[in-house]
Amino acid sequence: MQIDVRHGSIYEGSAVIAVGMFEGEDVQKSQAGLLDNALRGLISDMFASGEFEGKRGQTVVLYPHEEFAAQRAVLVGLGKRDRCNADALRQAAAHAARKVRDLRRTRFDFLVPDAADALSAEMMGAALAEGAVLSLYRFLRYKTDEETKKQQAVDVERLTLVTGKAEDVDALQRGATFGRIVAEAACHARDLANLPGNELTPVRLAEEAQRLAQEVGLRCTIWDENEMRQRGLNALLGVAQGSANPPRLIMLEHVGSDASTPPIAFVGKGVTFDSGGISLKPSEGMDAMKMDMSGAGAVIAAMGAVARLQLPQRVLGVVAAVENMPSGTAQRPGDIVRSYSGKTIEVLNTDAEGRLILADAIAVISEQKPQAIVDLATLTGAVVTALGHECAGMMGNDANLMNKIRAAAEASGDKVWELPLWDEYKEHVKGQLADVKNIGKNRAAGAIAGAAFISHFVGEGIPWAHLDIAGTAWGDETPLHVKGPTGWGVRLLVYLLKEWE
Ligand code: BES
Ligand code: MN
Ligand code: ZN
Repeated sequence: MQIDVRHGSIYEGSAVIAVGMFEGEDVQKSQAGLLDNALRGLISDMFASGEFEGKRGQTVVLYPHEEFAAQRAVLVGLGKRDRCNADALRQAAAHAARKVRDLRRTRFDFLVPDAADALSAEMMGAALAEGAVLSLYRFLRYKTDEETKKQQAVDVERLTLVTGKAEDVDALQRGATFGRIVAEAACHARDLANLPGNELTPVRLAEEAQRLAQEVGLRCTIWDENEMRQRGLNALLGVAQGSANPPRLIMLEHVGSDASTPPIAFVGKGVTFDSGGISLKPSEGMDAMKMDMSGAGAVIAAMGAVARLQLPQRVLGVVAAVENMPSGTAQRPGDIVRSYSGKTIEVLNTDAEGRLILADAIAVISEQKPQAIVDLATLTGAVVTALGHECAGMMGNDANLMNKIRAAAEASGDKVWELPLWDEYKEHVKGQLADVKNIGKNRAAGAIAGAAFISHFVGEGIPWAHLDIAGTAWGDETPLHVKGPTGWGVRLLVYLLKEWE
């Protein structure tokens, strides 16, 4: 989608205009007062009838009289003014964009709301662009029927943000470009998570990363199974050994403006399909485990955005890509492996595979002495039980890093909630025969046990945060995504870097 900014009034001849309205405000005194006059009181009528109150999520299509410049006007509710934040703007743009597509139109104007007290013009531009791009995402690649193809042919190609404030134009455009790039990256992550396990194997995921690296200018290094065997990534290889599809370790680097500074490292769990291995999962719902590479998808897609935005930091994106399958060569419950770090691991449940591959990936990247490591992983069903699909579980060893992540979560809309990772929990994963075991104490504190395990493989003194995204990676329909993969984490990671000092 092309997104630009125009200084002017909204009556300058676009086919569709959209305008956000606050709840409980007098139309004539509001920004839409002039518009209401031009529409001969149509907006006031809507409010007077009670059909439209400006509540968040409400949308109404108006059919202006013939002399009016636009053929359609779309009203979208912004909710209460004092509760207007970036997410309210994302949702307003999302509702408007979906309505415009329903109207089978390819472009529209959106009048930027006068909510400036709470939000900078740049942030408003970003939020509106994100909302429009994220809401229109769909995955039709495997549909072959004519009806779907016809549907696919109509898409919103252009959004113009209209502002009455000439002084805001530059900041709005800067924000809109940022927001568009971030949201397109989130849609890229959604595409990767939608690809089924037969198509998106570890090798294919590595190829996708390589292609992206070429396109946007990232360094890309890939280790195959032989390289990993020589180097001793045995925890990762143990998970991979049951599958006919060989594993890959994918490393992307954005050099930034100073190649000599320690990097910030993002690590993603890339299980392209998680059957559970010998500790086989029940068949019901197992198909959803094609999305067990969502952390990897978010890291790869975020790296693409980081390069496109030419952010100043040096950033590493590391992905451990494997398929977890049961077979005659598969790892057994009870197996003991010597991980890359040198620590030994008792594999008591082959379905707790994410932490095994992350253990090696994090130990490898720790050697680069990064200033921080953030891992994203669809790690546990327990985090879904605790927090649902609304936020990710955050655990880590560094309050400063976690504060930064909380701020980025607030700004980006990818929400997090911290769970404790006290030393007591580290006892949960102490091994009987080996140093550590890959499950905790029965079913107690399942999400924390996962983090406690991973913490053993983070290099000494390196600030680290673990984001368990098993709930947020996938969801039912909301204004910003359809049912399925959400692209969660792409926005968070890019906002985190944007605000990194
Ligand atoms: N990939 C799953 C976790 C998951 C669950 C992701 C639901 C998305 C939705 C992970 O590999 C797993 O199987 N975890 C086990 C760990 C247990 C065996 C300690 C779980 O949560 O049951
Ligand atoms: Mn599993
Ligand atoms: Zn898994």
